[in-house]
Amino acid sequence: MTPKSIKSTTADTNLFHPPKSIVRKANIKDYDKTYERSITDREGFWADEAKKLKWYKKWKTVLDDTNKPFYKWFTGGKINIVDNAIDRHLATHRRNKLAMIWEGEPGDVKTMSYHALNREVSKFANVLKSMGVRKGEIVTIYMPQIPELPIAMLACAKIGAMHSVVYGGFSTEALAGRIADANSRVLVTADGGWRRGKITDLKSIANEAMDRSPTIEVCITVKRTEHEVHMENDRDFWYHDLMSLPIASPKCETEVMDAEDPLFILFTSGTTGKPKGLVHTHGGYSVYTSTTHRYVFDIKDEDRWWCAADPGWITGHSYLVYGPLINGATIMLYEGAPNHPYPNRWWNMIEKYGITILYTSPTAIRGLMRFGDQWPQRHDISSLRLLGSVGEPINPEAWRWYHEVIGDGKCPIMDTWWQTETGGFMIAPLPITPLKPGSATKPFFGVEVGVVDENGKEVAAGEEGKLVIKAPWPGMARTIFGDPDRYVDTYWKEYEKQGWYKAGDSARIDEDGYVWVIGRIDDVIKVSGYRLGTAEVESALVSHPMVSEAAAIALPHEVKGNAIHTYVILKAGEKGDKKLEEELKKHVSDEMGPIAKPEAVHFLESLPKTRSGKIMRRVLKARAMGVDEGDLSTLED
Ligand code: WTA
Repeated sequence: MTPKSIKSTTADTNLFHPPKSIVRKANIKDYDKTYERSITDREGFWADEAKKLKWYKKWKTVLDDTNKPFYKWFTGGKINIVDNAIDRHLATHRRNKLAMIWEGEPGDVKTMSYHALNREVSKFANVLKSMGVRKGEIVTIYMPQIPELPIAMLACAKIGAMHSVVYGGFSTEALAGRIADANSRVLVTADGGWRRGKITDLKSIANEAMDRSPTIEVCITVKRTEHEVHMENDRDFWYHDLMSLPIASPKCETEVMDAEDPLFILFTSGTTGKPKGLVHTHGGYSVYTSTTHRYVFDIKDEDRWWCAADPGWITGHSYLVYGPLINGATIMLYEGAPNHPYPNRWWNMIEKYGITILYTSPTAIRGLMRFGDQWPQRHDISSLRLLGSVGEPINPEAWRWYHEVIGDGKCPIMDTWWQTETGGFMIAPLPITPLKPGSATKPFFGVEVGVVDENGKEVAAGEEGKLVIKAPWPGMARTIFGDPDRYVDTYWKEYEKQGWYKAGDSARIDEDGYVWVIGRIDDVIKVSGYRLGTAEVESALVSHPMVSEAAAIALPHEVKGNAIHTYVILKAGEKGDKKLEEELKKHVSDEMGPIAKPEAVHFLESLPKTRSGKIMRRVLKARAMGVDEGDLSTLED
């Protein structure tokens, strides 16, 4: 069974009502009333949610908007996210509850109670301290999906250091650039990870990246695959060696942080230039991730929560690690490919561990759907209660398959719209919300959205426009690391007068107030739900000695949602052929990572540009899709 179309904008207004059994037990019974309150008494609403967490000292001000758009939340408050995600559970029945179930791709399994997780995190926090890691310093983490990844993140946060996790699928250039931007002195990595039965050689990539990164003094490597790797004297340490030393004591004080102290930076692709490191904080982010997770996924103590995203992306940060642990859930982590060794891998794990909520991307759903119903049908996956989707619009065909075949027609699908910048869900249903396949439904509590035209005027119901957020929320990124001006320019400049946040997506809101997100309107490409910038792909192409200029665009793809198509002008005297096309694809993959590998490389004599020299990607896209090229009056020639 193949999806017939990946068109996400198909209005499918069939309403799917959640089953009574779910509505009856839902954490929130009335959306409208709670929403109304969250808007009219924003600070009161967030204060009530914040009270559910543990604070060393209560805040003085819920929302400080004296320096817009640099909003601050819970100022005066003292908190540490790890105190909430781990420490406070230790005094409760959760001490011996499973915090994490992990399965490696080869089939090895590790489980950890909150007590055990605390030990590991505390030990590694002490190791980091012994390496001189201090409050405020940024540790770069580059790892496969193994337990040591969340452990390293939590260990940093525990001692007040910030982490910068670089997705394990990225390659040398992407890693080196992010290390340099973060000015990291310490890198935590692994010798490799398992993917489709093969070793991904992270340590070699890390070594190459470190050759380009003069700031790194210490590299700690987890032994996962046991293949031969190069370790440098004085710089490289094995994780297990350090963890067995007396310095790795299981007792470690959790650092008392200001609510607004930074927790992590996470690089994400933007419209132009280099990826930007978005900064999230201990206070607001703790409140926002836990509240959204608790209400949207209706989390209960007995739930087994599986967010199948990689911790290297925001989804993994907010909903694999922090939100669920703050809520005391049992989290699932899986190392490898969903179809290895067979396409039943996920369904097998859901059965084996009794997973109750699965949160994944439309790409993963479409990918697994292609193998047919027989794979999930071999397994008893009736433990599932709720399903979730994130990263790109979900097309109605995939929605229905997910709902009927995976959810047995009884699990509501929480389609959550949000961004690295927003920290957590912004538009999402609750388990009580009647669903329309393809719509993320309604704004979360405290979130006000609008869809506006070119002039910033709100469009009529059903009309397409640009998505804006009209008021601040606790999970919002506070700035771009080291570049506050860019933060203002990118997100706040366009609607400065109104004080609105520009999301960079197009959307429409229907007559029932349901939001339909259509996709990016800037030069960000969503490939398989992963966020990439045209600028990064182009700069990887131009770094090849035969390439003079390059342009990258997104074209629709059946499984990936979008695929990267590139247009290249070669240096004088060079000729483009099939062999060079393959070489350039590989070059991008080597520099950036396999997810950035272009679907196609076309050789051109010239690129459509404006008179000021900007590449008109929309013209390339219109030509490729055979549609109207639109206004060409600014075209150079
Ligand atoms: C897209 C991922 C439609 C959107 C959490 C957004 C979605 C970008 C959805 C952010 C959804 C995310 N429906 N589109 N449910 N969720 N997007 O920063 O274009 O990796 O702007 O954050 O993903 O991507 P990011």
